[in-house]
Amino acid sequence: MQYGTAGFTAAIAVTKLLRQPATIDHHTPLLVTGATGGVGSFALSFLAKLGFDQITATTRDLTQSAYLTQLGAAHVLATDQLTVQPTKLLAHQTYTGVIDTLGGPVLEHLLPLMHQDGVVAACGNAAGIQLNTSVLPFILRGVTLYGIDSVYYPRKDRKEIWQLLATNFKPVNWPTTETVAFNQLATLFNEATPQTTSRTVIQY
Ligand SMILES: NC(=O)c1ccc[n+]([C@@H]2O[C@H](COP(=O)([O-])OP(=O)(O)OC[C@H]3O[C@@H](n4cnc5c(N)ncnc54)[C@H](OP(=O)(O)O)[C@@H]3O)[C@@H](O)[C@H]2O)c1
Repeated sequence: MQYGTAGFTAAIAVTKLLRQPATIDHHTPLLVTGATGGVGSFALSFLAKLGFDQITATTRDLTQSAYLTQLGAAHVLATDQLTVQPTKLLAHQTYTGVIDTLGGPVLEHLLPLMHQDGVVAACGNAAGIQLNTSVLPFILRGVTLYGIDSVYYPRKDRKEIWQLLATNFKPVNWPTTETVAFNQLATLFNEATPQTTSRTVIQY
């Protein structure tokens, strides 16, 4: 249960990146946004387990860098560094694969940074739902934008994702997940801070 919806969603996103072996190898530059969050943390740790060694993780809180490095990030970038410049139609080819949990202006700035035949898996909208972009990354660089939907993910394919979570994707560097009783839930919420990144399984 420690994976929850976040882990399941991250795993679907990783399978989309793995569909592009001609573009994405273990040493090509990947990006995971909102990486201290549930989806981002799992995506990072699954990619690290698979042997990708050039993953950049973004966060608004650089004091979390050690946590992200422990999960497998080779580089940590402040999220606002992605959006500080005005969006260009096409920019320097920087990332071959992106797992994006933020959407909005962050995704807008990422699409022009994609490498030829790069892949973006859009999972979330923590930074916004609007997407003002152009067709150029798609028609001039062959970029693929996958939308990830864990809710209506086909039943026949769910088993494969859970199987991957139990085998190839199973992180080696995941922090301890604690299990607490249902009646401890209120205490748990009271003690949580914005910096809390651990996961907890509630035993009911
Ligand atoms: N498609 C699906 O099936 C599916 C499934 C699950 C979740 N989701 C969506 O995926 C997204 C991430 O889910 P999650 O469970 O990982 O959420 P989460 O644990 O709250 O993590 C989101 C992370 O994004 C960053 N963030 C939050 N607000 C931001 C903002 N305004 N601007 C920039 N960064 C911001 C934060 O990281 P820092 O503080 O480190 O920057 C936060 O840890 C959400 O939008 C969620 O609704 C989609």
